Amino acid sequence: MSKPFYITTAIDYTNAAPHIGHAYEKVLADALARYHRACGEEVFFLTGVDQHGQKVQQAAARLGISPADFTRQITEGFLYLWNRLGISNDRWAATTDPLHHHCVRTILDRLHDAGQLYKAPHTGYFSVRQEQFLTDKERNADGEFGPEWGEVVFLEEENWYFRLADHREWLLEFLGSRPGVVLPAFRQVELINAAAKISGDLCISRPKSRLSWGIEFPFAPDFVTYVWFDALINYISFAGYHSEDPAEQARFDRLWPSDAQVIGKDILVPAHGIYWLCMLHAMGFPDDKIPTLLVHGWWNLDGGKMSKSLGNIVDPVDLADRYGVTALRYYLLRDISTGQDADFNSGRLESLYNSELANGLGNLLNRALNMTRRYCEGCLRPLPTEADRDPRTSALLSTLSDSWSAYHEAMRAHDVQGGLGVIQRAVQEANTYAEQMAPWKLAKDPTQAALVAETLTTLCLAARQAAAQLEPVTPDASSAILAQLRLPRAFSFAEILDFPDNHQVGDPVPVFPRLEPPSETNSPASPA
Ligand code: MSP
Repeated sequence: MSKPFYITTAIDYTNAAPHIGHAYEKVLADALARYHRACGEEVFFLTGVDQHGQKVQQAAARLGISPADFTRQITEGFLYLWNRLGISNDRWAATTDPLHHHCVRTILDRLHDAGQLYKAPHTGYFSVRQEQFLTDKERNADGEFGPEWGEVVFLEEENWYFRLADHREWLLEFLGSRPGVVLPAFRQVELINAAAKISGDLCISRPKSRLSWGIEFPFAPDFVTYVWFDALINYISFAGYHSEDPAEQARFDRLWPSDAQVIGKDILVPAHGIYWLCMLHAMGFPDDKIPTLLVHGWWNLDGGKMSKSLGNIVDPVDLADRYGVTALRYYLLRDISTGQDADFNSGRLESLYNSELANGLGNLLNRALNMTRRYCEGCLRPLPTEADRDPRTSALLSTLSDSWSAYHEAMRAHDVQGGLGVIQRAVQEANTYAEQMAPWKLAKDPTQAALVAETLTTLCLAARQAAAQLEPVTPDASSAILAQLRLPRAFSFAEILDFPDNHQVGDPVPVFPRLEPPSETNSPASPA
């Protein structure tokens, strides 16, 4: 059996409600997972929540509830949203899961036995917000720690360290010799530059006296595991690594390494690019078992960051309520190039949806079905052979056929925006073909009946193909289109052309109702 496509996303912090950036990452991974499933590959798609750490403990304390209750409430918000957005993950990684605890503790034990961990005292300034000790590098020009670090306290404590610096040379050599292990390529360069600066080891414990909400060290019960060290392990714990169940372990051997760990640009350095890769190396993973990191950019607002403290968070639930899930998923993948940043703009969402889905594919489907019912008794007819076809039909069919390779190339390169562009161009050509052929005029002349059938069948097949190719991005709309065409999903050009003789299509029902004209402001959608 071929290797499954294993895709994960960063697990979301449970100290705040999900926002549009989180939603983008899940929708991107979901579209890639759905695409690979459609190609007939076995897919394992993992996502989840990062539930431990000081910030969670503090947020729970502020509300006067236990971290466990706090975590449960916030996790429900994420689960609700992923369900609403149709995220098709195969497994849910919640780091409070005993399975994950077991795996983290086993890894700590093994690394300890292998001499990769040591205990040492440390004295210094500590940022409570960032949960890290600060060095002079973090001081600003005035010699102070800036507001981004929040409350800074002076601490003296013993902790456990991971010998990160021992893996520096390996990491540099590995990154230098494996182009494509971090995507896009400019992020690999950024990581190499950061890896060259690794100087110290990584503190991976927190004394229980100040943080109890974490995974206890198996050989040092006064300590819990640093939240990043714990969270990164989710990628392997939930795939079966160190599982007590042999079937799970066997699955891990089959799945790993992950083909795409989808993360935002802010968590490449140091978390995924340095800590995680060095952790895997220290655990004994050979170079060919190191995962690929797919680093996406950020959705910004008015060119700037969205953040809770700035009060400019765009809420995906509001957007889904206002525009529908299809429009939201489409926009989140259509208006950003994987790896680059984009600016969220509700006017763009409306105009892209209206022009490409409502006026583009929606119109194509609607006219194809309406006229098939009116002029061809609702039936698709076998297409004439190449020699007997109208040249304009041949030209459109050749566009549709060619678009598959461009579509696959884009999707395999994680370029969903490019894949959607390919679909869009084919839909435009199909609509132009409809105008040129003008079957409503041809239908007035009974001698043209065969050409009318050829035209309308071709238009229905163009809509079928667009629905099939769009499925990873707009699964519900694609199913609705195929249901109206009464055709099953097809995922190659030969299959698109394959339908039963005298196949009867259904009634047209608008799949993409038009949205209100773009609003004048660039403000996030809000029901207010
Ligand atoms: N908990 C860590 C990840 C641990 S992975 C072992 C974390 N969580 S997060 O909730 O802050 O972010 C989750 C993901 O959302 C990250 O990949 C982050 O880059 C992404 N995004 C957060 N804001 C974003 C945007 N504005 N735009 C796009 N994605 C962004 O980091």
